Amino acid sequence: MSSLENFTSTMSYPENATLKEGEKVILGKGGKETATYADLKASDELHQMHGFGHPLMQHALVVFESGEGAVLKDVNGDEYLDALAGITVSHLGHGRADLAQVAFEQMTKLEASSNQRNLTNNNAIKLCERLSGLAGRVFPEKMTGSRVYLTAGGGEGIEAAYHLALRFWNKSGPLGTPYGRGYKKQKVISFRNCYHGSTFIPASLKPEFSDYGWKRWMEGHDRDVFESNSHRMFCHIDPPHELFLEKNKMKPGENVGQAAARQLEERILHEGAKTVAAFVFEPVQGDGGAVDMHRDFFPLAEEICKRYGILMIADEIMTFAKTGHWFGMELYGVCPDIMVISKGLTCGYLPAGAVIYRNDLWNTAFNKTLPKLALSDVWQHDYTWSGHPVCSAVALRALDIIENENLIELCAKRGQEFLKILKSELDGLHVVQQVRGTGVMLGVDLISDIAVDVEQVLLEYGVVLRASTNKHCLLLTPPYAMTEEQFKKVAKSLRKVLNSFTTLAESAISKPRQS
Ligand SMILES: Cc1ncc(COP(=O)(O)O)c(C=O)c1O
Repeated sequence: MSSLENFTSTMSYPENATLKEGEKVILGKGGKETATYADLKASDELHQMHGFGHPLMQHALVVFESGEGAVLKDVNGDEYLDALAGITVSHLGHGRADLAQVAFEQMTKLEASSNQRNLTNNNAIKLCERLSGLAGRVFPEKMTGSRVYLTAGGGEGIEAAYHLALRFWNKSGPLGTPYGRGYKKQKVISFRNCYHGSTFIPASLKPEFSDYGWKRWMEGHDRDVFESNSHRMFCHIDPPHELFLEKNKMKPGENVGQAAARQLEERILHEGAKTVAAFVFEPVQGDGGAVDMHRDFFPLAEEICKRYGILMIADEIMTFAKTGHWFGMELYGVCPDIMVISKGLTCGYLPAGAVIYRNDLWNTAFNKTLPKLALSDVWQHDYTWSGHPVCSAVALRALDIIENENLIELCAKRGQEFLKILKSELDGLHVVQQVRGTGVMLGVDLISDIAVDVEQVLLEYGVVLRASTNKHCLLLTPPYAMTEEQFKKVAKSLRKVLNSFTTLAESAISKPRQS
C-alpha cells in the first residue's frame, strides 16, 4: 500500500505502533543513538507535532539522519534526492565541513551575547555591514547605507519589517511625506497565493489561511464590519501571473501585469491611501509554486506606491540567492523600501535572517525631536536570537562561498538546465498545466488538487520536493550542488508518479482545483 493510501485512508492510530500513548519511550540512552526506525516512529507519533501536519500524516514517516551534497539518507539507510534543499535553505548542499568548522570555532570562542541597546558582537556587526553593502551594490540608488536588523528566521523578519514600516509612518509627517503622522496608516496589501510565515502578521497576509491571523479574529463580526475600512487591516490583490490573476477582472487591452497594478491602485483608493502602510509581496512566490510575476507589474506598482505613499516590502526570504540574482527584485529592476531575507543566508547550516531597511527611512523612523529620548523614540522590538554570533559567523562564510565561487551565476545556469529537463520530461502529461522556473525555483502546476498526494508518493521513489499549500502546485528548489544527472532522476521519477495519476481516470475530477 502506498504512503498516500496510508494517510488518506487510515483514520486512527496504527495498530502496529510499537508503543501506545502514555507509554515511555527513551531514545538514545546515555547520549548514544541506539533507536531503531520503529522506536523513532513510535516516539514521533507520541510526542512531536509537525508543521503543516496532522497526526495521520506522521504514519508515512521518513526520518533523515545524514546528508551529502544533494542526497539525504534516512535512518534505514535509504537515499533520497533532495530537490527541496532541506526546506529551500541548503543551497550549497548537505554535509559541508567548512561551514561546520566555522560554527565549531565560533562556539568555542563565544556562543551567545546580547544584541540589545548598546551590546553586540563582532560577527553581527560584520554581517550587517556585509548585507548593507550587498544591497547597496545591487540597488545603489536606494539601498546605499541601508540599515540591517538581524533575525533568526523569515516570519519574524516580516513582523519586524511591518513594525519598522509603522514606525516610519508614525515618525513621518513634517519630515516625511504628507501622509503618516496623524493618520492611522497601518493596513497592508498582499497577494493571494502568498506565504509570508505562520506567526500572526504573516499568517494574516495570506487570505487563504482562515484558522489563524486577522481573518480568524474578524470572524464572528458582521460582514459589514469586516468590509468596513476602519476594521480591515489586511487586503489582497491577485498576483500578476496568467494562472493566478482572475481573468474576469481584466479589462480589454490589459495584460495581467497591468491588470494587477490597476487592482493595487483601486485597492489603495478603496481603503484610503491614508490608511495603507505597506504592500508586502514575494518577488517570486515560493510556497505558491514558484510563481514569477509579469514583468510590467513591479515598475507600475512602484509608481503607484510612490504616488500614494505606500512602502514596498519585498519578502526575499526564499528568493535570496535563489533566482539567479542576489535579490529576486533584480528580476524586475525595481528596488523595494524594505527587504526581508533568510533561508539561503546561512545555506541551511544555522537559522538566520535579516531585514534590510533604506537609510532614508531609518533617518525618519529614528529621528528624535526632543533633547531626551522618549519611550516612543525607542523601537520596542527584539528577538533573543537576533545577531547570534555563531549564526552570523556561518552566514558570513556562506556569503563568502557564494561570492567567491560565483554561485549566483551557477544558480542561473543550473536553473535553466533543470527547467529544460523538467519541461521535456513532463511534456504531454495531461495532469500538468504548466512547468515554470526562475533560477532554481521550479514549479509544476497541476490540473487538480493532488499535489500533496504526489509529494507523498514521490518519497517512495526517493525524491523529496514540496506540495504548495494551494494543493495544485509542486515546488522544487534543488541545491546548486545537485548535478544534471541527479536532476534527470528527479524529473523521471516525477513523470512516473504523475503518469500514474494520469492513468487514474478520476485524478482530474477527484480533487478539482479549489483555486
Ligand atoms: C517567502 C517566505 N516568507 C516567509 C517564510 C517564513 O519563514 P520562517 O518559516 O523562517 O518563519 C517562508 C518560509 O518558507 C517563505 O518561503
